[in-house]
Amino acid sequence: MIDLAPRRLRSDDGHLSADMRASFEADGYLFLENFVAAAECDRLRARALELVEEFDPAEHRTIFSTTSRAHASAEYFETSGDKIRFFFEEGAFDARGELQQPKALSINKIGHAMHDLDPAFEAFSHTAKLRALAKNLGVRAPQIIQSMYIFKQPHIGGEVVWHVDSTYLYTEPLSCIGFWFALEDATMENGAMWCLPGAHRIPLKSRFVRRNDTLVTEVLDDSPWPEGPRVGLEAPKGTLIVLHGQLPHYSGPNTSDRSRHAYALHVIDGECRYPADNWLVRGSRLPLRPL
Ligand code: FE2
Repeated sequence: MIDLAPRRLRSDDGHLSADMRASFEADGYLFLENFVAAAECDRLRARALELVEEFDPAEHRTIFSTTSRAHASAEYFETSGDKIRFFFEEGAFDARGELQQPKALSINKIGHAMHDLDPAFEAFSHTAKLRALAKNLGVRAPQIIQSMYIFKQPHIGGEVVWHVDSTYLYTEPLSCIGFWFALEDATMENGAMWCLPGAHRIPLKSRFVRRNDTLVTEVLDDSPWPEGPRVGLEAPKGTLIVLHGQLPHYSGPNTSDRSRHAYALHVIDGECRYPADNWLVRGSRLPLRPL
């Protein structure tokens, strides 16, 4: 497999040149260095750790795993679309069900509506700069449908298998775009992402949907992803990686001593239809709003 380096770009105010937009069209991603100030990264990281501190792990020991899908049946996950909830790493518990390391080093991620429910995350997520970026990417009525704080913990941070985000956030026509912020340096050792540039033109292979009150993956095309070339997205703290909703991406396990905290937002176009069988639902008390 051939590995490539990302094309490193800059946008200080969210505006994109014609060349940058062409780059996104061609590759399906944008790598924007220094998009977020280091102090802002630190503030968000500190707030995430506060939220974890306030969370009682005895309540919900739901493990988030993309390999087992065991979490998918858990009501805790299914109803998290309009809440702030906490999901453990697969390797967090021992055989007796006890945490093997401190709580703050056991959580896989927090999701999926802190961008609307927590003041610190809301302030980070709803900015003129991000709105300008979404508009420059062609989203007519950008709305944040999902937020995730991803810890990628030292030693136990699990892999996230190759997937595209439109599988999980489907609109007609497709409109999902991911904003992935490196809050700490992401390196090959601590589980940086990989992507298959240009593969966002491949038609959607699956959808993750509600069927009879359970979540299932409906396969539309079971052919494998292309072999490559792939881009290794090693990202210094403060980098924003924009991912087209149909761009295949992956991240390996974290085998290092260092965490790889990231914050991810997923934006859809409010002018597209969001079918009711999407896994992520929001109650009437928390309607989607403009970015
Ligand atoms: Fe993803």
